[in-house]
Amino acid sequence: METITDIRQMQQWADATRSRGQRIGFVPTMGYLHAGHLNLVRAARSHSDAVVASIFVNPLQFGTNEDLERYPRDVRRDTAMLLDVGTDVLFLPEAAGVYPPGFQTTVTVERVTRGLCGAARPTHFAGVTTIVAKLFHMVKPHVAVFGCKDFQQLVAIRTMVTDLNLDIEIVGAPIVREADGLAMSSRNAYLSATERQAARSLSKALAAAQALVEHGEVDGLRILAAARRVIADESLARLEYATLADPDTLEEVDAVRRPTLLALAAHFGRTRLIDNCILSRESTARTGWRKSPDSQLSTAN
Ligand code: PAJ
Repeated sequence: METITDIRQMQQWADATRSRGQRIGFVPTMGYLHAGHLNLVRAARSHSDAVVASIFVNPLQFGTNEDLERYPRDVRRDTAMLLDVGTDVLFLPEAAGVYPPGFQTTVTVERVTRGLCGAARPTHFAGVTTIVAKLFHMVKPHVAVFGCKDFQQLVAIRTMVTDLNLDIEIVGAPIVREADGLAMSSRNAYLSATERQAARSLSKALAAAQALVEHGEVDGLRILAAARRVIADESLARLEYATLADPDTLEEVDAVRRPTLLALAAHFGRTRLIDNCILSRESTARTGWRKSPDSQLSTAN
């Protein structure tokens, strides 16, 4: 595995790889990797000849009172994990090169970034789409893989790629969970033992909603009430939102008559976590809350 820190060198590697006729697969991350990230690398490998994973804790997507300074970092451990899973290039751009003095250009996706997490984090998604657009120009991938864990992010990136005619295939990969259902996240490292227990309520809430839908419930208020009740039962949990939305447009819906996104955000102490699933009458295999990655939602939208 090669490690590249220089942006120009990354572009030259991409040009050389492309000129050999090889497909480049790309997995952008902020590091402190876990099995969910490694699954994206595996997915990228199955769609390409050479895989680049990047680690960059992007200041532009953190709000002023968010966790940029304390975001967990361990590049040595990440490097070993990426090597093990078969990554060709680890790209570690330096902040000074990514955001040089005088930087004043951003990429904003409008409607799909307003609701859900965008309501409490109004500048977050512009930070994400800007860095992802920049990384795309550095790595020049044919295909890039993103997790369904950050469902709104995935939709925003798909929208950006369509709207800006970027010639890049976007692949969505299923949510990878701990054995007890908690969606893996670098931020889980912040949780105390009691918060970690309470955080199970997120996936339990998704499961409760899915169970209702499977029993024929379509009323959005009742489905949301069931999910909220599970989280309210945890005294350490503070719900930010529980929302039903169309998985393509992210517009809110008040009934579940077709596969529908149920998205949750909640705070456990100082830690904000998100989770989601696609509620569907037909099958739990598409809901994304089961333990095994193989039985989880894999979006092709
Ligand atoms: P980060 O939170 O490090 O996540 C990197 C990628 O891993 C994202 O596509 C995310 O959806 C995916 N991921 C995280 N946890 C996952 C899980 N449990 N199962 C499946 N996939 C999971 O998302 C970001 O970084 C940043 O916003 C980034 C896109 C890198 C831009 O800075």
